[in-house]
Amino acid sequence: MAGLEGKVDKNPKTAAVILAGGTGERFGKEGGKQLVEIAGKPILTWSAEAFDAVGDIGLIVIVCPADRKDEYLKKAIDPFPFVTPVVVAPAGSTRQESAFSGLELVPDDYEYVVMHDGARPLISPELIAHTIATLQGNIDADGAVVAHPAIDTLKVVENGVIVGTPDRSVFWNAQTPQVFRAGIYRRAHASALSDGFVGTDDSSLIERLGGRVLVVEGKRDNIKLTVPEDYLMLVAAVRERYLKQ
Ligand code: CTP
Ligand code: MG
Repeated sequence: MAGLEGKVDKNPKTAAVILAGGTGERFGKEGGKQLVEIAGKPILTWSAEAFDAVGDIGLIVIVCPADRKDEYLKKAIDPFPFVTPVVVAPAGSTRQESAFSGLELVPDDYEYVVMHDGARPLISPELIAHTIATLQGNIDADGAVVAHPAIDTLKVVENGVIVGTPDRSVFWNAQTPQVFRAGIYRRAHASALSDGFVGTDDSSLIERLGGRVLVVEGKRDNIKLTVPEDYLMLVAAVRERYLKQ
């Protein structure tokens, strides 16, 4: 079909930014959660390896605490055979600041930036590739975000009292990866910075500029290590997926 050809970039440059600069307050382990091991490998490494395995990502930026750069490299990156070049950016005091810091290390000629929480080690190379391809195949879209439909009934609660039950079918839980066209993503960060807007994910920065962000349906098992209970689920899931004979 005429025109379709131009919609899919043949050789796009895509960089990944993996956020690993938080302090892991809710997980509650001294030293944070990014270097916590599952099956002998830090969760940050599981995440980064998935991006390495995609094959056509040109650069991986790891965002980590500035004073622990050497430790992160020594434990999570250097012992593992990454094919993709890996660079490290200093974390900020919020997730959004860390994302901006990582973005600053993405060279100007990169067309796509895919953001990921380093604390989501179960992401698969296939879902990363599918998310990127979804954006590349939709010329009118500015981004694509992995999400899954809300499964619990949602309540609006005020002062401990339920005041409403919205139609659940329009609610999705957003995860990462989230991929964006680099130009609008840079503008979205600049705009948020100048307005003092702080979002809880990357997509919200683009949405407030009126950008068009697509949803890619993922699975609930792409969980983020947030509280201690998550750890056992992650261990079981990694064993099930990678280590079972
Ligand atoms: N993150 C980051 N820089 C920050 C805060 C968060 O790079 N200043 C990263 C985390 O390392 C994590 C991802 O963003 O991979 C999602 O954040 P979250 O799960 O909230 O991690 P933490 O902020 O470390 O945990 P908590 O909120 O419990 O302190
Ligand atoms: Mg946090």
